[in-house]
Amino acid sequence: MAANNPVLDFALSCPKAELHMHIEGSLEPELAFALARRNGIAFPYADTEALRAAYNFGDLQSFLDLYYACADVLRTEADFRDLMLAYLVRAHADGIVHTEIFFDPQTHTARGIAFETVLNGLEAGAAEGLARFGISSELIVCFLRHLSEEDGFATLAQVEPFIDRIHGFGLDSSEQGHPPAKFERLFARCRALGRPVVAHAGEEGPPAYIYEALDLLKVSRIDHGVRASEDPALMQRLAQEQMPLTVCPLSNVRLCVFEQMELHTLPKLIEAGVKVTLNSDDPAYFGGYLGDNIRAVQAAFNWDAQTWYKLARNSLEASFASAAKKSDWIARLDAQFALVPV
Ligand code: ADE
Ligand code: ZN
Repeated sequence: MAANNPVLDFALSCPKAELHMHIEGSLEPELAFALARRNGIAFPYADTEALRAAYNFGDLQSFLDLYYACADVLRTEADFRDLMLAYLVRAHADGIVHTEIFFDPQTHTARGIAFETVLNGLEAGAAEGLARFGISSELIVCFLRHLSEEDGFATLAQVEPFIDRIHGFGLDSSEQGHPPAKFERLFARCRALGRPVVAHAGEEGPPAYIYEALDLLKVSRIDHGVRASEDPALMQRLAQEQMPLTVCPLSNVRLCVFEQMELHTLPKLIEAGVKVTLNSDDPAYFGGYLGDNIRAVQAAFNWDAQTWYKLARNSLEASFASAAKKSDWIARLDAQFALVPV
């Protein structure tokens, strides 16, 4: 029987938002094989065990190579719907009430899948998640930074007719050698469309990339940002501006950003007053969903209920949801926090 652990129980069950989760990264091997079968695709792995055995990443690029290859099984609206719903089932089990989900249109349009197919499928899954679990989901289009800004503009042209269904824009894929500055004009256009922007920065890349994301792309959140801990002035700025970081602990360990969870800079970031949120990034590939991240972090750092309250509250405050929704969720969080035995 599991030991009684009220702090961990609170951390796992309290209302929270997930703000950094790539839907393509929630493709579990079982679903990947099912979709390959459904779509008549020969998958280059014998079975799910053989695929899982390939989840042995030395860095971000080694992961991305496999992640893009697996995304090839996603072909139809039904595929994207099933993917989204499978994630929301897991999200509900982890207390998530709101999620802002990344997707990579270029990964799909480059294979001849229409942007509208992807969007319709993801929205169908989100609608079912809302009806069944009450989880609100918004979509964030991510641009692949290993491609050109011109390619990004062509993608944005495909997105614009559907802009009412898109909540924000982000920047992901191979960070090293592809600084935020490469996308300054593209992100200015995204902001001019009235959408907030976010960017992966300081995952593998240097603190300079975080400065560029802030100053050139004018982001509302930094995705990862863990290498900020190398630059005291940057830490101070992030804390002063209360700029949210969407930190993904299991991802950082699996991609060898930190050798082990105990060496993660999370405690340093929190102590410096940075607005940290916890997220799963690519849960199918990195050893788990948000709840698994919470368990792993708690095993390493044994935080108190106040710290977990703050992290959950940060996630709700840092979301792009309406003020009314946020205050409703925070009231629920407060009520649950008041019940934690001291
Ligand atoms: N795309 C999916 N996961 C990513 C990550 N952790 N970093 C950059 N791009 C990604
Ligand atoms: Zn990510």
